[in-house]
Amino acid sequence: MIKTLTTSAIMALALTTGGALAAGDQGHIEDIAFSFEGPFGKYDQEQLRRGLKVYTEVCSACHGLRYVPLRTLADPGGPNFTEDEVRAYAAENFFVYDAELDEDRPAKPSDFFPTVSGEGMGPDLSLMAKARAGFHGPAGTGINQLVRGIGGAEYIASFLTGFTGEEQEVAGSILYGNTAFPGGWVSMAPQIEDGTVDYDDGHNNSAHHIAEDVSAFLMWTAEPKMMARKQAGFVSVLMLVLLTSLLYLTNKKLWAPHKGKKVDI
Ligand code: HEC
Repeated sequence: MIKTLTTSAIMALALTTGGALAAGDQGHIEDIAFSFEGPFGKYDQEQLRRGLKVYTEVCSACHGLRYVPLRTLADPGGPNFTEDEVRAYAAENFFVYDAELDEDRPAKPSDFFPTVSGEGMGPDLSLMAKARAGFHGPAGTGINQLVRGIGGAEYIASFLTGFTGEEQEVAGSILYGNTAFPGGWVSMAPQIEDGTVDYDDGHNNSAHHIAEDVSAFLMWTAEPKMMARKQAGFVSVLMLVLLTSLLYLTNKKLWAPHKGKKVDI
């Protein structure tokens, strides 16, 4: 029994980590202690607000967030904007095409963040923090992910600060050296350096902090309900523990009169 269980556990592990093993040539990812990690982790509202500012001022030029409704900026657990703040943010920063008016108008809270596409533009970032894994070890088995999470936010932060300054031209396009990007060369130019964004609250705006803030924000766009999920998970594990102990005791009591009795044949 134990042997079968062990074998199937190993099989399952091998199956789920097969992709990571095959990928090979992974870049270097720095582990970061984000506030949302661990069983009781929470998003840091101020950090999400700073990250949104970085996204708006820098990344939104080339990357959309088309799966994220603007109104969710007001959701509890997120940046926690007031309704008025969302309205002002949407109208100030984005123009969207309105099919009814047949023209562009300032965005409203009921719109989504824009889709950005075209020459030189990057992939949509809505789900990027869950699409990329930062941790693959040890030896590509992915076991570290059990403890540190999949590391999507860490991957983005390391990617943003991982530029080596080297450039090369391949088939007419410039590639930039990057220590986090698999393969080491990427077509996105470096975007973040010390002071790229000024924070209203005077928070540290070194390249590292800016990269962490926008990565935390992108983790939120990819998993806005993380806290609710963790809470539900915790409650169900608690219920299961309770149920298991009750069943164990019931079972013991039920069989107590028969245990140790000789059977007459
Ligand atoms: C000038 C345009 C431009 C700006 C501004 C820009 N990016 Fe990019 N980004 C790109 C392009 C192009 C790619 C595709 C690179 C490739 O696959 O070679 C990319 C790719 C990415 C990727 C995916 C890497 C991967 O693993 O595939 C991430 C993450 C990313 N950008 C994050 C950001 C963030 C965060 C910002 C803002 C701080 C930002 N980018 C600003 C153009 C841009």
